[in-house]
Amino acid sequence: MKNIVILVSGGGSNMAAIVRAAERDNWRKRYLAQVAAVISNRPDAGGLRLAAAEGIASEVVDHKAFDSRESFDAALARAIDAHQPALVVLAGFMRILTPGFVARYQGRLLNIHPSLLPAFPGLHTHQRALEAGCKVHGATVHQVTSELDFGPILAQAVVPILPGDSAAELSARVLTQEHLIYPRAIAQLLATL
Ligand code: GAR
Repeated sequence: MKNIVILVSGGGSNMAAIVRAAERDNWRKRYLAQVAAVISNRPDAGGLRLAAAEGIASEVVDHKAFDSRESFDAALARAIDAHQPALVVLAGFMRILTPGFVARYQGRLLNIHPSLLPAFPGLHTHQRALEAGCKVHGATVHQVTSELDFGPILAQAVVPILPGDSAAELSARVLTQEHLIYPRAIAQLLATL
């Protein structure tokens, strides 16, 4: 079985979309793949409750308990490796990862970012797209490299920016697309493994 480990920090709506797609499209049979675990760096992440409700193993590796990025990443890697993952999927995981961690999972570490990369890496992407006067915005699924919000692009979705949009409205429009492209990109990758 190809195990997928999903890392979350917050609400976990992308994680939920992936879990739903895996069930709906029968990833177990089609790709011999399953969502094996959800790991959060925050004990209060809503994604953990969602995972528990789905009967998926969940775990917290609280970054506040570690005094360096290296020691946190080492503990995170131990938690991940317990599930022998074919893919490690960052779904709203809001920690900068060390080069050693990224290298360990090279080629099997994915991220979704709420902008049309290479535009707007980093934070506050929706507000920045509005302030730049963009007419379109979107989301990107990409392989993770040691450079933040960079790496080979697997999928993108474009949404319009409408007159009078707030950052929250734009974020919600982008998020609905994230929920479509992330499971699809993962499925495409699973088909090649
Ligand atoms: C999503 O919009 C995702 O693209 C973004 O955080 C949100 C998480 O939502 N990720 C990043 O900004 C990573 N740099 P979710 O917890 O509901 O999936």
